[in-house]
This record gives sequence, C-alpha cells and structure tokens, in this order.
Amino acid sequence: MRVLSVNKFVSALCALGLGAVMVASVQAATDHDKIIERIKPSGSVCIVGDDSCGGASAAPAGSAGRSGADVYAASCAACHGTGVLGAPKFGTSDWTDRSAKGMETLLANAINGINAMPPRGTCASCSDDEIKGAIEHMIDSAK
Ligand code: HEC
Repeated sequence: MRVLSVNKFVSALCALGLGAVMVASVQAATDHDKIIERIKPSGSVCIVGDDSCGGASAAPAGSAGRSGADVYAASCAACHGTGVLGAPKFGTSDWTDRSAKGMETLLANAINGINAMPPRGTCASCSDDEIKGAIEHMIDSAK
C-alpha cells in the first residue's frame, strides 16, 4: 500500500517534470530559432570560379580581390585611422618609418600579428595579397 502511494507520488512528479521539460523545450525551440537568426552570417564567401558565387554577383575571373583601400577601410582603419594602441597612423610619417622595414617584414608582421597588432588585423578572410594591398594603401598615405 505504502509502496503504491510512493509510486503514485513519483509518477505525479514525473508528469509534472515532463510537463516542465516540454515547456522548457518549446521555449528552447523558439530561443534556438532566434539565436540562429541572430548569428547567421551577414554575408557568405564564394570562391571565384565555383558555382556558389551565384551568377551576376560573382567576381569576374582573375579578380585580385578587394582593393587595398577597401580592406583598409573595413579592417584596418579602426586602429590605423586614429593610431590607437600605438598603431602607425594613416596619412602620417609613421608609415615612412615603418616602410623602412621593407614590405616583406611588414607583410609577415601584419599576417602573424605583432604586439597589439592582431594577426591579419582581424581580417581572417583577407588573402595575403589583400593584406599587402592594405599596407601599400597605408604606406602611400604617408606624408
Ligand atoms: C586592433 C587594432 C589594429 C587593427 C584592427 C589593425 N592593426 Fe595593424 N597595427 C596595430 C598596432 C597597435 C601596430 C603597432 C605594433 C607595434 O609595432 O608595436 C600595428 C602595426 C601594423 C603594421 C606594422 C608592422 C611592423 O612590422 O612594423 C602593419 C604593416 C599593419 N599594422 C597592418 C595592418 C593591416 C593591413 C590591418 C588591416 C587588415 C591592420 N594592421 C589592422 C593595430 C591594429
């Protein structure tokens, strides 16, 4: 008898628990959808020459990628525009001094990072050539 009532109690608990789990999982499903919506990529990468680029929006074959000015504006200006953290500042003699190191060293340091300069200036999707273009753009700005 006593065992039975414990059983009843347990199954009542289980039913309650299951209800709570179901409510929680419905909640989780909507949260999940919201999260997917929130974290979905704002753009997608396609490789020149494959079909994923989707016709007209595809970069022309042989394109050299983003221009140095574009890469600079998108990924480097945040630090190099103001000279924050000791970054050589755009449009100043900072870049005359740096360019004395030679492009090979500058490029290697930009790719690998140096001190407060993060690897690839945080542009993980930038090719070596695009990084180089951005550096040339900054060196060209030197006065
Ligand atoms: C988070 C800030 C930040 C961003 C973003 C950033 N840099 Fe830098 N960068 C720095 C700092 C700080 C230095 C100075 C490092 C030092 O010499 O101590 C630096 C130095 C450099 C140097 C000189 C390296 C040397 O050997 O003297 C190059 C080249 C460079 N950055 C390129 C880039 C390029 C290209 C981008 C964008 C793709 C970029 N940086 C984005 C902070 C940044």
